[in-house]
Amino acid sequence: MSDKDKVIIFDTTMRDGEQSPGASMSLEEKIQIARIFDELGIDVIEAGFPIASPGDFEAVTAISKILKNSIPCGLSRASKKDIDACHEALKSAPRFRIHTFISTSPLHMKFKLNKSPEQVVDAIKESVTYARNLTDDVEWSCEDGTRTDMDFMCKIVETAISSGATTINIPDTVGYTIPSEFTKIITTLKNKVPNIEKAILSVHCHNDLGLAVANSLAGVSAGARQVECTINGIGERAGNAALEEIVMAIRTRNDLMPYITGIKTELLSKASKIVSNATFPVQFNKAIVGKNAFAHEAGIHQDGMLKNRETYEIMTPESVGVKKTSLVMGKHSGRHAFKEKLNDLGYAEVTDDVIQTAFGKFKILADKKKHVYDDDIAALVDDSMILDKYVINLKSLKVFAGTGEPQKAEMTLDVYGEVKSTSETGDGPVDAIFKCIKVLYPHDVKLQLYQVHAVTEGTDAQATVSVRIEEEGKTTVGQAADTDTLVASANAYLSALNKMIIKRKKTAPIEHETQKMKGI
Ligand code: KIV
Ligand code: ZN
Repeated sequence: MSDKDKVIIFDTTMRDGEQSPGASMSLEEKIQIARIFDELGIDVIEAGFPIASPGDFEAVTAISKILKNSIPCGLSRASKKDIDACHEALKSAPRFRIHTFISTSPLHMKFKLNKSPEQVVDAIKESVTYARNLTDDVEWSCEDGTRTDMDFMCKIVETAISSGATTINIPDTVGYTIPSEFTKIITTLKNKVPNIEKAILSVHCHNDLGLAVANSLAGVSAGARQVECTINGIGERAGNAALEEIVMAIRTRNDLMPYITGIKTELLSKASKIVSNATFPVQFNKAIVGKNAFAHEAGIHQDGMLKNRETYEIMTPESVGVKKTSLVMGKHSGRHAFKEKLNDLGYAEVTDDVIQTAFGKFKILADKKKHVYDDDIAALVDDSMILDKYVINLKSLKVFAGTGEPQKAEMTLDVYGEVKSTSETGDGPVDAIFKCIKVLYPHDVKLQLYQVHAVTEGTDAQATVSVRIEEEGKTTVGQAADTDTLVASANAYLSALNKMIIKRKKTAPIEHETQKMKGI
């Protein structure tokens, strides 16, 4: 296959993905994500929107310094101030991309920008030329592209290319298009824009109608050679096109889509896990990376699978890095075996401190639980990795639940190094637990989501609890696992609260800029 058949994978998990409610990630989480993305073979990583907040600026700067293979990219509006911030954050990387965008649909130009089409054309010329003087790699996007007048789009794409854009991205910002219409848009651009061969065409689809992946693939078949996507499909509203689905669709149906990507697909599960730990859990039936994506329940299917796995499997679990669930460790397993197991599970780079904490938790779990599965161990390590940054930690919890009496929790917390205890009643045990936390560390957040999943099977399974809280428009998600659902609930709430405390510290001196951004 030639270079023409290569589809560039542009990941925007840490920019568009982070715009999902509850998906905000800490700097440490973003660095961990960037490292796995680099290894995964992602071509371009959009690491943030540097002007939007000091946190984004810091993340783009830090990620630009560590990438070995992927090209870092930052987003900017069509303004010199935005582009300068992008350049400042990216400039330590040997190669980097500035991505600048402006709205181009009649609706957005009139109501959002309050600009005439001519003013928008001028802004494109000015911003792209300015960015191109700072780097050879400039991407330009026409926001709300799929609701933009087609003749106008041809004109502005030509303008962006002649001003120096090397990638032209067509976003379906509101997830409105359908595959046949999107094919037509890309084909028209290919046929009508005279200088189109000087740039790579890119697609960026949102999932409001559940068509983001289908539309992206239609765009590729029509000639786009870059796809913008996110791991687990996270993103604004219903999300962005899911990277793992696009890559595996191209790989599995290469007979109909004869393209290549540079993605090492065996790392997809690991990347998905790292992203979901930092954001929120993946639905069980999610294609490629959902817990049930390779599970065969019906007897007739299981029978077919035993005879020939291709009867019901169009790709192997191993091809996306899913290992067969193995019943491995028990209470007699030692530290060495535990370390080996972590290596097998893809946790090769965890620190000795994390291994020590996770091993301690594993011993406690192995005492309580008959079977310790790979997923249990992964949940322990994921928990241990973030604990050392927390300033509020659970020391002990006792819960009195059942019929009759009001439910009561007794809790001891370590709050910034001070050990504090309380006992509270509540409308159910979880309510009592959350009240204790509020008494020991007074705060005012709204609980937006409380969700419980079983990590593995059986009544002794670990429960993973996810909690999402909101404070002044900012949201954080905490997750925790334990065989005791109530302990997991307390830890999940504390995790979300600790993340909120970390986030508060980063509160932007240019906060007003972020607010303005919402109405760009
Ligand atoms: O959806 C969109 O239009 C975007 C652009 C900023 C590329 O995310
Ligand atoms: Zn988008």
